[in-house]
Amino acid sequence: MANHIVLLSLIALAFFGLTFAESTPQQDFCVADPTSPARVNGFACKNPVMVEANDFYFSGLHIPGNTSNVVGSRVTPVTVSQLPGLNTLGISMARIDFAPLGLNPPHTHPRATEILTVMEGSLLVGFVTSNPDNRVISKEIQKGDVFVFPQGLVHFQQNVGNKDAVAVVALSSQNPGVITIANTLFGSNPKIPSEILAKAFQVDKTLVEQLQWKF
Ligand SMILES: *[C@@H]1O[C@H](CO)[C@@H](O)[C@H](O)[C@H]1NC(C)=O
Repeated sequence: MANHIVLLSLIALAFFGLTFAESTPQQDFCVADPTSPARVNGFACKNPVMVEANDFYFSGLHIPGNTSNVVGSRVTPVTVSQLPGLNTLGISMARIDFAPLGLNPPHTHPRATEILTVMEGSLLVGFVTSNPDNRVISKEIQKGDVFVFPQGLVHFQQNVGNKDAVAVVALSSQNPGVITIANTLFGSNPKIPSEILAKAFQVDKTLVEQLQWKF
């Protein structure tokens, strides 16, 4: 009996410890060791004795991303995957490049709020509130302007100027995740049955199949 209680307490401790690992570091740093087979909420820690300055360093955010693609935008992420020192720190960033009329299409970050600064150009940015209102909160912003996208809400950014635009964003997770709405629904693997999407979008199945073919 006592053993069971100890075991349950350990499981509870492990659960809460893992659940909150990212938001409350338990040490100065926990540089990601992607080679460790340990599975925790984030990455296992590299031996602190072996940690060096380059573990906290990333170079290359001055380089424009390639916007030659169907949406005309490119995100260059700096998350824990690119910068191992971000492990457990609950923060990351990215550079976003936009060709004229380039779009960062409607998407959401399941684990992060995002705050954006326009470095060059003009962007139309916005997010949509939860059901039932689904209100669009949107604004055209310029170089030097800052806009925040609350955690989990669907949002977008479009270059509305006639030259390239650049934004830098910070995100409140070491690994914010991205769910691009169109790709998630129409480009999933395996496909969501077209009858389901036809009913959800109140359109014909053939239109859904066209979209699925595209994504
Ligand atoms: C940008 O991407 C396009 C399409 O993939 C490719 O053809 C082009 O070579 C790339 N440009 C540079 C500078 O990498």
